[in-house]
Parts: sequence; structure tokens; C-alpha cells
Amino acid sequence: MLIATLAPFVLGKSPAARSAAGHGSTFPADFVWGAATSSYQIEGAVDVDGRGKSIWDVFCHSPGRIKNGDTGDVACDHYHRWREDVALLARGSFGAYRFSTAWPRILPAGSGAIEHRGLDFYDRLVDALVAQRIAPWLCLYHWDLPQALQQQGGWLNRDTCRHFADYAQIVARRLGDRVKHWATFNEANVHALFGHGIGTHAPGLTGRSNMLAAMHHQNLAHGLAVAALRAERSDLRLGTIINLQPARPSSQSDEDRRAAERFDAVWNGACLDPLTKGGYPAAIAAEFASLIADGDLAAMRQPIDYLGLNYYSPMYIAQAPQSLFGAWFGAVPAGTPFTAMGWPIDAAGLTEELIRLRERHGDLDIYITENGACFDDLAAADGSVRDEERIAYLRSHLVAAGRTLHAGVRLRGYFVWSLLDNFEWAEGYSRRFGVVRVDFDTQRRTPKSSFAYLAGPARSGL
Ligand code: FCB
Repeated sequence: MLIATLAPFVLGKSPAARSAAGHGSTFPADFVWGAATSSYQIEGAVDVDGRGKSIWDVFCHSPGRIKNGDTGDVACDHYHRWREDVALLARGSFGAYRFSTAWPRILPAGSGAIEHRGLDFYDRLVDALVAQRIAPWLCLYHWDLPQALQQQGGWLNRDTCRHFADYAQIVARRLGDRVKHWATFNEANVHALFGHGIGTHAPGLTGRSNMLAAMHHQNLAHGLAVAALRAERSDLRLGTIINLQPARPSSQSDEDRRAAERFDAVWNGACLDPLTKGGYPAAIAAEFASLIADGDLAAMRQPIDYLGLNYYSPMYIAQAPQSLFGAWFGAVPAGTPFTAMGWPIDAAGLTEELIRLRERHGDLDIYITENGACFDDLAAADGSVRDEERIAYLRSHLVAAGRTLHAGVRLRGYFVWSLLDNFEWAEGYSRRFGVVRVDFDTQRRTPKSSFAYLAGPARSGL
């Protein structure tokens, strides 16, 4: 009821009114309200304008990898429908849009020849955002490595780090006059573990040593890219985006408690400690030792301007001798609610993680760069989607985030995952996270109730 009453007054507000929308609520007037997407999950047009193949193209076309045999070949066809999507962002009064550039669109072979048509696409997108006074937040890597580099070892090969820094510099040279917020990586930990450790994501590699190498080389690539971006321009705000989850023991046993500590070091520590503390967590440092070359630790530890936190749920970890690190996801406490992904819903974990982030990594500006929920949304006969469960999830997490402001955490913004229903990796199109429904047969976009909620009541703390 409330949503229906407030929505007409909020949707389509002028940019000036947008920035004032937070006034009087938990969140300050300059709090950034954004929506997030990623290149492979929405763009489609995989063979257009000279784009090279990415590891996800290859993975999706390998039988049995993705649910229902889905691929990102078309996805949300954003490559052709970006104007409509920018208009949606404006209609939702979003002040910022987090997207990623597809490396193989810009450097089809990963290095060497630049494909200018790929850069032109992002150039047009950025211009359209700026014209609507929506700040572009660019992430350089959301898992779609050029397949050409994978053939040379991908993240197992140190040379990929240098190629990544070159790619970062090329993108910044073209877009850095208008894009001021840059992230190097999206969730290096997820990419290392799922793509290189257990193989359920591209490139489908398995094993502990592959996982460790992919982790270390992404950390190194981050550092080299930050240095390259700073050398290119001095007015960029640089950070990285990481998925952090409290690692709780699945039971009271000593074995599970130790397993949770180990998993915490791998999942929450290995991706950030080198960046902010100059080394790997003690619990796993020895495992990385053989990968670290002279100068790596210094190269990884570059000053950054902000951290992007992606939060969905806590983890419950049990001892699992057959698993990569002797620890894996275990039983969840009875009575815990779940999203349709099977992820436990627990907003308190977000408060915990934000506070811990400051304790562990210093008093940096923090943005929640992804938060959202998957539910089996049903469209009503008139096409509308009243996704009350998603609104309840978002509301509880915004309340949990707001609490940390009172505790002095420098939380500066919130990006919902995701603007659109999209290609959800190994789950294909079977899982919907959007605040806008996408009909994948017609590409029709329909804002859900959560879209109106985020445009208005959410910002007033309702
Ligand atoms: C995150 C990913 C994002 C999306 C959400 C649901 O781990 O960064 O691409 O898949 O999960």
C-alpha cells in the first residue's frame, strides 16, 4: 500500500531532487543509491563488433555446465538496448550505475590490438549516464577473461597480471575523463574458488593449487592495475569489490570451529589482507609462499580509496576432509529462512561484516556494491510483479547497514543487485535477482514493486 502511494511522487524526479531524497532518513543526503550489473550477465551480442571470446562463452557452450544449457549469447541484449536501460536507471532515480567492461570486447586477444568499436560502446553508455546525471561506476573485471589469455594459462600465468594492468590503462585513457569511480576486480575470491578450485564456474578448473594461483595473481593484477590507473590520471577513486561473508561454525564442535576459521582465512582474508596489510592471513600464508615472487607483496599493497562489499548471506562451515581446504558449507541452523538460491537470509551478518571490515582493514570508505535476493517472482495477469519478499529482504538489509552508520562506519552508498533479471552464471536464467523483470522471450522490461521501493521508501528509511 505504502509503496503504491509513494511511487508516483518519486519516480521520474529531477536529478536535483534525487540527491535530496535521503534527507531526513537514516542515510545522509550524499549517500549513493545505485544499481549494479555485469557485462557477461546482460550484454549478449557476443559476436558483434569484433568482440573476442571470453572464458564464459566457452564454458557455457560446453555441454552440462549451465542449467538448462543456457548461455549469455543474448542475455538481456543490453548491447543493443542500453538506451532503454539507462532510461530505467533514471526512472528509478538511481544516482549511480555499477557496470563492468568486457575485456574481450576491448582487447579481443586479451592484449595487443585494441577493438575501438568495443570502447565506443562503453563511451556511448557513459555519455548517456552522465547526461542523466547518473555517476558511472566501472568495474574492469567481472569474470569474463579473454579466452585467448586462458589458452596461455589465464590466472595461473603471471603474465596475465601485466596484461590486466595494460587493459586498465587503455580503458582509463578513453573513459577516465568522465568515469571517476573504478573497481579493479569483482569478487576475486569467488572467481578463484568457484572457477579455479571447484570448477562450477568458468574456466572450470579444479584443485587447490589452481585456486591459490588464481587468487594470488588476481591480487597482484589488482595492485599493478591500481598503479597503472594512478599513473594515467590522478583524479580517479580506485577500489576493489569483494564478497565477504561471516564464516560461522556449523556446529559447536572444535572441528567445525577450526574449519570455519580456516575457511574465513581463505574466503575473507586471502583476497583483502595482501591489499591492506601486505601479506596473507597466518592460517594459510604458507600455502601461498611458493607463488610469491620478489616485489609482489609491495606491488599488491597499493593505497586504495574505497572498498566495495558484496553481501548476500553468512556461511555455515563444517569440517570436510575431502574438500579443498578441509572445510565446506555445512548445516544451517534450523528455522533459518532462505532465498530461492538456497542462501540463508540473515541481515545481521551485514552489520557484522561492515564492522569487521573496518576493524580488519582500516577506516576506508565502504560501499555496498551488491546486495539483493533471488526469488521465484510471479508476474500477475497484467504483467506486474509484486515482489514483496524481495522488498522485505532489501529493507532488512538497509536497516542492518544503517545501524553501522551510528557506529561510525564510513558507509557511503548502496548498489542493489541487480537492475535486471539476468544470466545468473551456472544457474542460467532460472534465477531472478532483478528489480526489473526481463521477459527473455521478448526482452520486455517491467519494473517490479522493489524498483519503486528502492526509488522512494527505502531512502526515507521505510
Ligand atoms: C555475486 C556476483 C554477481 C551475481 C550475484 C548474485 O557473487 O558478483 O555477478 O551473480 O552474486
